[in-house]
Amino acid sequence: MYRDTTCGELRAGDAGRSVKLAGWVQRVRKMGGMTFVDLRDRYGLTQIVFSDDADAELAERASHLGREFVIQVTGKVARRQSVNPKLETGEVEVLAESLNLLNRSEIPPFTIEEDTDGGDDLRMKYRYMDLRRPNLRRNLELRHRMAFEIRRYLDANGFLEIETPILVKSTPEGARDFVVPSRMNPGEFYALPQSPQLFKQLLMVSGYDRYFQIAKCFRDEDLRADRQPEFTQIDCEMSFVEQEDVIQMFEGLVKHIFKYVKNIDFTEPFPRMTWQDAMERYGSDKPDIRFGMEFKDLTDLAKGHGFAVTDEAELVVGIVVPGCAGYSRKQTDELTEFVKRPQVGAKGLMWVKYEADGKIKSSVGKFYSDDDLRAWGERAGAQPGDLLLVMTGPAMKTRKQLCELRLEMGNRLGLRDRNVFAPLWVVDFPLFEWDDETQRYYAMHHPFTSPNPEDIPLLHSDTGKVRATAYDIVVNGTELGGGSIRIHDAQLQDTMFELLGFTPERAQEQFGFLMNAFKYGAPPHGGLALGFDRFVSIVAGLDSIRDVIAFPKNNSGRDVMNESPSPIDASQLEELQLTLTEKAD
Ligand code: AMO
Repeated sequence: MYRDTTCGELRAGDAGRSVKLAGWVQRVRKMGGMTFVDLRDRYGLTQIVFSDDADAELAERASHLGREFVIQVTGKVARRQSVNPKLETGEVEVLAESLNLLNRSEIPPFTIEEDTDGGDDLRMKYRYMDLRRPNLRRNLELRHRMAFEIRRYLDANGFLEIETPILVKSTPEGARDFVVPSRMNPGEFYALPQSPQLFKQLLMVSGYDRYFQIAKCFRDEDLRADRQPEFTQIDCEMSFVEQEDVIQMFEGLVKHIFKYVKNIDFTEPFPRMTWQDAMERYGSDKPDIRFGMEFKDLTDLAKGHGFAVTDEAELVVGIVVPGCAGYSRKQTDELTEFVKRPQVGAKGLMWVKYEADGKIKSSVGKFYSDDDLRAWGERAGAQPGDLLLVMTGPAMKTRKQLCELRLEMGNRLGLRDRNVFAPLWVVDFPLFEWDDETQRYYAMHHPFTSPNPEDIPLLHSDTGKVRATAYDIVVNGTELGGGSIRIHDAQLQDTMFELLGFTPERAQEQFGFLMNAFKYGAPPHGGLALGFDRFVSIVAGLDSIRDVIAFPKNNSGRDVMNESPSPIDASQLEELQLTLTEKAD
């Protein structure tokens, strides 16, 4: 046996026990005639003491240990003279009696402790060492715990876990596909699934009633903190359900996770908001409702005062920032710079300070009297001491820009507390999204999403107004998941493809197997998928999903540890009958 005890389990009550431990050397400190070694494994850290008095030769060997050496130690557990309250094993230490060097280590490129001195790239290159750090270990433990609880909940509710293929057919909707050439079928390609969407619908046609899968999905899209090219979904589908059934089931799942993993009880139903409301009140279909600062429409009040910027605008809209009337010129300038950044893209920002003594100061005082601005304040609900920030321009664009500013103010004022969780459902999404560039409609969710039955008469006459039976679950400003009730009627599906600009031939070529399946008794069905990486990172209170994925890609979609993607041999290309137009460097 290499060990009989882990580095995380010894407590005061173990004093006097003889133990055998194995692990990595985190640190070696020499103090007088003593050598202290912090020994680490997945379970924790234990202090090992080598003393000259007890065994000078052993202490000498210990003093030569380096960071990340792998060792085995036997010894006796003793209570420590000075307890370390930061360590779970901090009441005890092990007085070493033998030391066995199992492996050496080169000097690690960064410190393997909670706080490391390693930059992102370095940590990614040596990810196997980064993963030894306790914070990452805790994230992966949480991920495991959540996957386990998800399976427990879904199993208890009659869901079957069924795997679906990874080599699938490339379809044009959604994000860009990753494609895989087929050697056996030269000139033909598989795609990696963007989600198991079509397969889970087919499983409903097959009568499986309740399906789930913790599924790997692949999307070739630009990356952000909450996006990876390969990520994991908790993918689900149910038969004979309406929107309400799906919402109830998965609200239950989210509550189950918070209860059993975070010990947080959500006793009330999650709030619901229509997409329209979310856009008008927060400028986002994934509002962070941990704090207020809701949008107030000032368009009618602002127009007609000879100020071209507002006179010509479709929307004038503001937020009240509580207690910030005292902002200096430098601070308001900073906010103006913030909205002008390319990521936000606004031309400018107007501000009004409602000072505590009733005085009003504003960047647009030239165009508006104090009474005008007082009316703005009343509309917006500004109190003395508050700052009103106002943006203007085309409605949708301006709302998105003000949303960025609202989140920034939330951050500045510390209103986005990681330990507060504010879930909600956003419902009644539009079915279609118009794209100016290509001059056509796209499915906002996907082409299998059912229109709201009330809006079916509008499909041809007022396409943009049709609402979908689609819903998203949002937590703290992040889209955790989304889904819809699907179209199960072949004719309605045909209409949908037609509105999305598919010829019947192309629709048949791309989705023929699904449309054929629908001819053989498709039950009404619907479902949703939660982003598992996002779920774990929200529960862990982290900014990036990279910290909850063992081996993530960087922002250029590269794995800097194994250096992929990488060129392949000429012989491999030949076998696949592929030629590159430009030789890679
Ligand atoms: P959707 O595309 O909304 O729906 O994806 C569902 C959830 O998956 C997560 N997600 C991602 N997470 C990390 N990196 C990415 N690149 C990424 N893309 C998406 C998000 C998102 O809410 N088939 C439908 C679901 C359905 O209709 O049932 C689907 O894939 O958390």
